[in-house]
Amino acid sequence: AYEKLWLALALVLIVGFIGTITYGAAGAGIEMIDDEGGTVDPATLDQHPKFGDPGIERTGENSYDVYVVARQFVFEPGTTEPLRVPAGSTVTFHVTAADVIHGFEVVGTNANTMAIPGQVSEFTVQFEEAGEYGILCNEYCGSGHHVMEGKIVVM
Ligand code: CUA
Repeated sequence: AYEKLWLALALVLIVGFIGTITYGAAGAGIEMIDDEGGTVDPATLDQHPKFGDPGIERTGENSYDVYVVARQFVFEPGTTEPLRVPAGSTVTFHVTAADVIHGFEVVGTNANTMAIPGQVSEFTVQFEEAGEYGILCNEYCGSGHHVMEGKIVVM
């Protein structure tokens, strides 16, 4: 009889733990849905139809594509001006790097990828609630690594 009790208790703990994780993600108002990628020629990045002038593109009523170039020591866009998206939008990020390997992490969420020259990291995020999210570079990329950051404003 005790075995069943312990089993039940363990189940309750597991379900509770999963619930905490789910709530934590929802509480942050952001959810990373998938992760895929592609390639891009770093030598002609400046002439690329998307990465040549990176930014936000509306693709549907509540959906956006965001193209980000990471370079020593800024995210374009994100660093000199925040990325702005409306609450409730689904945003697909396409992230690459112009020089060396960088990271792209939305602080406090599971949205996190490497920015690699020649490669495009793609992931989709749902921004449910208004708020501000920091972007951090989490790969050592040189002397300015520790100040390489940006901001996403969900309105
Ligand atoms: Cu860019 Cu560290």
